[in-house]
Amino acid sequence: MVKPKIAPSMLSSDFANLAAEADRMLRYGADWLHMDIMVTFSSPEYLHLLILCSTYFENPMSAKGYMYDISYHFVPNLTIGAPVIESLRKHTAAYLDCHLMVTNPLDYVEPLGKAGASGFTFHVEAAKENWQELIQRIKSKGMRPGVALKPGTPIEEVYPLLEAKDPPEMVLVMTVQPGFGGQKFMPEMMDKVRAVRNKYPSLDIEVDGGLGPSTVDLASSAGANCIVAGSSVFGASYPAQVISQLRKSVQDAQAGSKN
Ligand code: DX5
Ligand code: ZN
Repeated sequence: MVKPKIAPSMLSSDFANLAAEADRMLRYGADWLHMDIMVTFSSPEYLHLLILCSTYFENPMSAKGYMYDISYHFVPNLTIGAPVIESLRKHTAAYLDCHLMVTNPLDYVEPLGKAGASGFTFHVEAAKENWQELIQRIKSKGMRPGVALKPGTPIEEVYPLLEAKDPPEMVLVMTVQPGFGGQKFMPEMMDKVRAVRNKYPSLDIEVDGGLGPSTVDLASSAGANCIVAGSSVFGASYPAQVISQLRKSVQDAQAGSKN
């Protein structure tokens, strides 16, 4: 049976105290630390465009600014990259579950491998042409490959990868639009979780977005065993309690009882 893994999303942590936040989560019972990697440009031309945009639009999320954003990169947000993973790695031996929300995941294999990432989960939407090479490269750098899909992407798109000779070792079903913490869980994504669990009983299936004590049962009963939770954990008065509730939900679902 697949093991429950509770992965607080460090996107909701205090970035200025990342090592202490990571340590706190591990003491509270976290199995993994979920690291959301989002970047904003991949070329000097794009950097130039970004500077131009920020001159024109005071608020980068204004309708036009947002439009520029989504056409040039995967999600409209900036978070952490390999240098931060490298710094954090010096303070913890924890499993760093890296979720790459970038358009060019191949470019990040080498730096993240060197930085000390443990899992490297790329989006299927960003790897249509090169997922085989990507998986091989991730493994060759000693990381564990995972494949993620956005809410609008049908689950069928990950089957060719899972059926390949060198398959990813985890599927991440996004339960919000990737980009930001604190969004509302999308229960309709559970059909994807159920479908993939029926086909692959011993695969790690991760859910990410809007998970907390009030939504986790839907995910765990559909078959998810890796639970990412940002705002519900970091925003709680007793995060340890939330982490143990999340774990219990997966354990109860696996045991076939929801008591
Ligand atoms: C969203 C990120 C998530 C996010 C989850 O794009 O992938 O990991 O931090 O945050 P919550 O649990 O607050 O929805
Ligand atoms: Zn994530």
